[in-house]
Amino acid sequence: MIRTLARSNIRFKLVVSLLAIVLLAGVLSIIVGLSALNTNLVRDAYATVRTNLASTSELYREEIDNRSRTIQYMARTPEIVRAAAAGDRAFLFEKLVQIEREFDFDIVDVVNADGTMLVRANNFEAFGDGMTGYRTIQEVLRTHAPIAGTGLLDFEDIAREGDDLARRTVIPVVPTSHGRQRPSPTEDRGLVIKIAAPIMDGDRLAGILYGAVLLNNNDAFVDRFKRLVFKDEKINGKDAGTTTIFLGDVRVATNVLDASGKRAIGTQVSEEVYRKVFEEGETWIGKAFVVDDWYISGYTPLYDFDQKILGMLYVGVLKSKFDVVVRNTTISYLLVILFTTGLALILSGYLINLYTKPVKRIIDASTEMALGFYHRIATDPHDDADARALAQAFNGMVDAIEERDRQLTDLADRTILKSEKLASIGRMASGIAHEINNPLTGVLTYSSLLLEDMKGTPYEEDLKVIRDETLRCRGIVRGILDFARDTKSERAPADLNEIIEDALRILEKHVTFHNVEIVKLLDPSLPPVNVDAGEIRSVINNLAVNAADAMPEGGRLTIRSFVEPGTGMIVVRVADTGVGIAEENRDKIFEPFFTTKDRGQGTGLGLAMTYGAIQRHGGQIDVQSKVGAGTEFIIKLPPRRGGGPGE
Ligand SMILES: Nc1ncnc2c1ncn2[C@@H]1O[C@H](COP(=O)(O)OP(=O)(O)O)[C@@H](O)[C@H]1O
Ligand SMILES: [Mg+2]
Repeated sequence: MIRTLARSNIRFKLVVSLLAIVLLAGVLSIIVGLSALNTNLVRDAYATVRTNLASTSELYREEIDNRSRTIQYMARTPEIVRAAAAGDRAFLFEKLVQIEREFDFDIVDVVNADGTMLVRANNFEAFGDGMTGYRTIQEVLRTHAPIAGTGLLDFEDIAREGDDLARRTVIPVVPTSHGRQRPSPTEDRGLVIKIAAPIMDGDRLAGILYGAVLLNNNDAFVDRFKRLVFKDEKINGKDAGTTTIFLGDVRVATNVLDASGKRAIGTQVSEEVYRKVFEEGETWIGKAFVVDDWYISGYTPLYDFDQKILGMLYVGVLKSKFDVVVRNTTISYLLVILFTTGLALILSGYLINLYTKPVKRIIDASTEMALGFYHRIATDPHDDADARALAQAFNGMVDAIEERDRQLTDLADRTILKSEKLASIGRMASGIAHEINNPLTGVLTYSSLLLEDMKGTPYEEDLKVIRDETLRCRGIVRGILDFARDTKSERAPADLNEIIEDALRILEKHVTFHNVEIVKLLDPSLPPVNVDAGEIRSVINNLAVNAADAMPEGGRLTIRSFVEPGTGMIVVRVADTGVGIAEENRDKIFEPFFTTKDRGQGTGLGLAMTYGAIQRHGGQIDVQSKVGAGTEFIIKLPPRRGGGPGE
């Protein structure tokens, strides 16, 4: 349960963090991308409108040029020159009507060289009136050169040309909340393209051919621009692009439709645009709500001959045209983001799986290990290098643990075997020793008495042998009894260092220690230990004698006492530089009667007794030895408060 929790926890964390990163990246891309997209598209839209406006201006200028060329050409035709010089009104009238129809002029007149009207195409009856008030006529009279451009005509001037034109001119202004305040509710001036060309009879000015196109309500004019610039593209049945000509701030010719579907003639431009274009003479590009829809709009000034701003040219592109682009681009962009995010998620899922699988396997294997099984992880050649390395490291650890466990079990087995063996030997030996002890005491007593009686007789020597051998037997029996002592030892807190010193003091004098250097490294801060002082003294005695026996040519005996850091055990180490113990004997030296010494030299009971004593104190004894280099016995006794089996 805990295991699954832990695992799913890792997976959960990984999934959540990766998800968070991927989603965050996605959201950021969307925010940044869309805003960049929008800025770009808006910039594009503005640039498009600016270009459309420039094209429209160009078309407008071309229109003036073309018409100017027509008038100039006509003014040079010999028949017109002749008729003008001759004042042939009837002929000219016929000719002017023809020009007006054919070239789509609204006004075509011939003016006399003195500035009076000779003949009007629109009104044969009206003539002789002075035309010198016209800027164009003035200019041609002065320079004898043609002139063309945009200008205004007053209502009276147009009225003189005919009723139809007059009617077309007057535009009722539709009041708009955001439009400029106007003094008059109607616009009755005419915005016109005017051309005047001299009719030259040789060097003499014979007259002036004058032509004009009224832009007020001139649908064909703006529709042609629309067609040329926007190709009549439609969005939801609405013109995508529109063109307008303004006189002042009023639409005089437009294909922008109002709510009822009629051309929005007479509507005003906003105050803001008016100011920018009229007062600062600049082109205005921006988003504008025109009549009933949003347009990206462009307005540019329309100048007269004297560079005075008369009106404006306008193009507007339905904003929804760009919205479609924005929408399509946004959708494709979002799809890309969505797709990559999805891909990133799938990839993350795959990676999470890839990396949690080995972790899961290790958790599973560890659980098996905890239950006591040596579980190794199977490596899959499809796994990546990291996962394989992880599995190998884990398996290496399992190998090491298994080997260590095997060694520990072996050691434990051997230790148990050894102590059991020693215990059974001990029981048997002590049984025998008890039985032998009493008769032996009898033999010793009587042989001693006999020896007293037989002093000086030939039996004396034999009796001595009997007594000495009996004494030797008693020594052996005592040793056995010491080893397997079942009597409770007398324990009391004692200074271990003092016991060691006591034992050595007696030994030092012994002949076997003559060539032996004794080194004592005794920790003075050693705490008192709860021991049977006599038993421990025999232990030190046995170990020291063995050491001296192992160094017949002399050597060094080092005795150390200290407290083992960590466990607090009291440690005594007895080391010599003697012959060492052969490998095959190391397991046997604690057995009673095991000796490598000559008959009469050793009983093989010293270490057996030592072992028994340390066991009874709850301690342990170990040996380390290297043949030819020396031997060290390590005794560990439990500290006073620690307690043990013998306490
Ligand atoms: N310090 C030592 N160096 C080498 N061998 C030793 C040492 N101590 C004990 N032994 C070996 O252990 C055997 C048993 O020792 P012990 O029980 O004291 O009996 P003994 O000394 O009577 O032989 C010895 O015969 C000797 O082979
Ligand atoms: Mg000995």
